Amino acid sequence: MAARIKTDIRYKPVGQFEETRFEKIHNVIFENSNDASIEVAEEIAKLIRRKQLSDEMCVLGLATGSSPIRVYEELVRMHQEEGLSFENVVTFNLDEYLPMDKENTQSYHYFMHEHLFNHVDILPENVHIPDGKVSNEKVVDYCLSYEKKIKDFGGLDFQLLGIGRTGHIGFNEPGSHYNSGTRVITLDHITRVDAAPAFLGIDNVPRKAITMGIATVLGAKRIVLLGWGQNKAEIIKNTVEGEISSQVPATYLQSHKNCTFVLDIGAGSELTRNRTPWIVKPCEWTEELTAKAIVWLCTKLGKTILSLTDKDYNDNGMADLLMIHDSYDLNIKMFNRLQHTITGWPGGKPNADDTNRPERATPIKKRVIIFSPHPDDDVISMGGTFDRLIEQGHEVHVAYQTSGNIAVSDADARKYAEIAKRIAPSEEAQAIIDSIKAKTESSFDSSEVRKLKGNIRRGESYEATRYLGLADGNVHFLDLPFYETGTIKKNNLSEEDIAIIVNIIQDIKPHQIFAAGDLADPHGTHRVCLDAVFEAMKQLKSESWIKDCWLWLYRGAWHEWDINEIEMAVPMSPGQVLRKRNAIFAHQSQKDGVMFQGDDTREFWMRAEERNRDTARRYNELGLSDYAAMEAFVRHKFD
Ligand code: F6R
Repeated sequence: MAARIKTDIRYKPVGQFEETRFEKIHNVIFENSNDASIEVAEEIAKLIRRKQLSDEMCVLGLATGSSPIRVYEELVRMHQEEGLSFENVVTFNLDEYLPMDKENTQSYHYFMHEHLFNHVDILPENVHIPDGKVSNEKVVDYCLSYEKKIKDFGGLDFQLLGIGRTGHIGFNEPGSHYNSGTRVITLDHITRVDAAPAFLGIDNVPRKAITMGIATVLGAKRIVLLGWGQNKAEIIKNTVEGEISSQVPATYLQSHKNCTFVLDIGAGSELTRNRTPWIVKPCEWTEELTAKAIVWLCTKLGKTILSLTDKDYNDNGMADLLMIHDSYDLNIKMFNRLQHTITGWPGGKPNADDTNRPERATPIKKRVIIFSPHPDDDVISMGGTFDRLIEQGHEVHVAYQTSGNIAVSDADARKYAEIAKRIAPSEEAQAIIDSIKAKTESSFDSSEVRKLKGNIRRGESYEATRYLGLADGNVHFLDLPFYETGTIKKNNLSEEDIAIIVNIIQDIKPHQIFAAGDLADPHGTHRVCLDAVFEAMKQLKSESWIKDCWLWLYRGAWHEWDINEIEMAVPMSPGQVLRKRNAIFAHQSQKDGVMFQGDDTREFWMRAEERNRDTARRYNELGLSDYAAMEAFVRHKFD
């Protein structure tokens, strides 16, 4: 997938290339969200400066959420280091929850001041954010006056947007009208689910909001929408390539003359030109692309690999592949490639020819570290493989990277504190109980409560690892400091975090490392935990033993690797599926009322089983053996 770096995001028209023929909105894909955000901040800064030169106000429409944070950071940096002034800037924020106090840390008022306004020289009277406390009687007039103020300033010069998974822009949820203005809206369930972590549970998420309308947004002279991460890929594709529809309000942007979507690779990955480039343009057929196309072709036609014909390739945009290879050769090669990924010996098969096996046969007994971002990702994502590695005699260590304390409910913590108090009455237990009782919507856990919650997760992890037969001494709780903020917002990775990972790798000197490879989510804890492993391995690269250490990536609870990406597939018997289920059951605090469930209401063991069954089924549908379930891994190769 070619990344466009440092293009002028403003002036490249849509439709210039054949590859964009399915696309109705101009978009630019960057290697990562950081580079993209800097480019957008530069565009905004240029506009502010241009307006300054002609003594005009610059009217900006601003968004909140995770997407624009880095843009604001960069604008603040430009103000502090390059003298970018905001004295001629007027801002209008898209939306605010209703009801919502300005002081509430979840308010968009708080967000904007925290990320931008408190750090630049904007005049307070030039900042406009919908008032989350306006009364029912006054709200209609209030919205009309918000609209009018924008018009009085001559309209928005630039509108920054994020996109929700419902396709909302601002809080214009599905059903929003093309002509809508600023108004009160009822939030979609998916939007509330997405906001639930920040509010520590969906019940605390407001049901309504004030939002600028579609017509307000479309009135802007220039619009830039930011999209980061795999989570946004599907809605971005539907918005850019689908028909204009009130069911996906962002599609209204197709009618705007000066709108650009700025994406990272994850968010752009479902666009046709990236997902199936062979149906849009001639391709350079690398081995990876060929594998991807063949899996796609089989799925599309409902055929096994070995039954694909010349006509199948020809009819589906892959005729140029046949100029290089015979279809039968292609089929055999792909079949073998997949066949060779399957192994019941994730640590390598002793005394076997390993030429075509995913892992090396030697050393027969390997040292292994399984890094688990939260204290249950190990069993959820690779419980079967974990079990096999122990059973096959390897020296397995599991390292829980974060305490996971934030995902334990107050009710659970109180239950345990009360048990502790009943066994041995103590001031500490009482203090924890009192602090949980006194907790309000916007207060954070005390450090004692967090410690208890972390300990609950430790206890559950030991239950799972003991069940799998791992000695307690091989279980390591790293409690990485970046995670320990007591809130959803985490700190950046620090030297201290990386040193902790370096030390454990250095001590164990593993032959294999397993880590959660959720590459696409730029904000999530899994991505930060993976970056810590990457950085640690980089720092250790001069050690003689590290070249023999292979890094295998598994996917977290939400996604699985595409079949064509998988490099090791570990089949599980029905009995092993049950063992894995029991290990997941040990994580009682994450069962039933899971705090961070997303919009998937299945419990973790169900998701894990369905996903593993699905991988096995897909192998089988491609013409390979029929297993009960399979766990999948990709080997990460360092440059
Ligand atoms: C925020 C807003 C929303 C967000 C959207 C994406 O002011 O209006 O439309 O832009 O929900 O949120 P993130 O960026 O958090 O994924």
